[in-house]
Amino acid sequence: MVERETWATRVGFLVAAIGSAVGLGNLWQFPFKTAENGGAAFVAFYLIAVVLIGFPAMLAEFVVGRRTNVNAVDAFRELGHRNWRLVGGLAVATGFWILSYYNVVGGWVLRYILGSATGAYFDDPGAYFGAVSAGPEAILAQALFLGIAVAIVALGIENGIEKATKVMVPSIVVIMVVLAGWAATLGGAGEGYAYFLSPSLDAMVENAGTAIPFAVGQAFFTLSLGMAIMITYSSYVGEDDNLPFDGGVIVVTNTLVGILAGLVVFPILFANNVDLALTGGGGASALFVAVAAGFAELPLGRWLGVVFFVVVLIAALSSAISLMEVTVSWAVDNFDVSRPTLAVAVGLGLFVLGLPSAWDTAWLTWFDNLAYSLFLPVSVLAVVVFVGWVIGSDAVDELRRGTGGLGPFGPLWLWTLRLVVVVGVFATLLLGIFELFLQDDPTGIPPLVAGAIFP
Ligand code: PFF
Repeated sequence: MVERETWATRVGFLVAAIGSAVGLGNLWQFPFKTAENGGAAFVAFYLIAVVLIGFPAMLAEFVVGRRTNVNAVDAFRELGHRNWRLVGGLAVATGFWILSYYNVVGGWVLRYILGSATGAYFDDPGAYFGAVSAGPEAILAQALFLGIAVAIVALGIENGIEKATKVMVPSIVVIMVVLAGWAATLGGAGEGYAYFLSPSLDAMVENAGTAIPFAVGQAFFTLSLGMAIMITYSSYVGEDDNLPFDGGVIVVTNTLVGILAGLVVFPILFANNVDLALTGGGGASALFVAVAAGFAELPLGRWLGVVFFVVVLIAALSSAISLMEVTVSWAVDNFDVSRPTLAVAVGLGLFVLGLPSAWDTAWLTWFDNLAYSLFLPVSVLAVVVFVGWVIGSDAVDELRRGTGGLGPFGPLWLWTLRLVVVVGVFATLLLGIFELFLQDDPTGIPPLVAGAIFP
């Protein structure tokens, strides 16, 4: 058997994981949910959810991956709990399911880069979105996006994912900072910032029923948890990496990019008096209809549109490759077939599963709602129960490796995982199930814990 790959550098793991975390969730969910639910007051709440739930759960995934240095399914066997491979299998399947429609959205982004360059959506962004988001054209664009992701993953950890994300992640940050600087000069900047961030406890309290589950759900979605990504990426990590430190860098950068996104989009919307109802409170229409309408009104709108949607593309792509690696890594560990061949095979499978979503956005919504409200929380819950209660103090030992001692943080982490994270994720899951199956909603689309694409 060939020796298993590893990241060439410590930073390699870090940028790849940041690339995974920074995705559409940061760009089209976080800013809009923040604005709707109390601005800075919501950010404070979201940070609590990230610190108490997202961060500890991420460390749990890291521990499973680095301890075993194997794919997310077989990791559970390596840890001496064969039956728990089911949990790894669920996480891998959840990731595959989510990626099938994430690629479709990636295809839309490609169309918007083109549409910005030609000004095709400038007259009527809503109609343009309707035209490119479904049907044969969406299938073609999906295939293109998927092709790029397959090409990167086929090159492997060091030569593919690490090299690509080392360029992609700094580009996202630099371009976003430049765009935010430019947006600050727009007429609507002050109003935009106020709409985005002015703290309102009233709004927070009034919307608590939707804001709290969103903050908790987002805390694990935005950190790419529950899809076996962090288990897989950390399985290529060396012993001397300091996992809590790396986790902290990922969490902070991920949050900053969400805030930067708000500093870019709201000045654009306010400078051009775009109807805020078009944002739909976050999700696909926020970027593809509302922000797109903003570019239509701006001088140099075409070029700004291209730059903006290129950032969206990079963010989506660096997330998609992380998710593709989950299945490919499992396949590489289990079949005596070359990585490129397996990457192509996985790509073909994803293409087929993505066909309904590309054909009709109603399917995409259905896939997304099921993933977001059911598969993801079940999968996060199972992993944290496993790490917290089944492997317990061994997990703390693994976390400690490479840190030079954790002090009281070790047991504190374990008990947070065992109690706070388990209860928090369980509550989110119950709410999701309630919305999915029990609520008397004629559309069948859950409004409260709705998915990530069309909230
Ligand atoms: N952290 C990603 C985001 O916020 O968009 C979540 C994600 C979704 C990762 C889909 C990977 C992926 F393919």
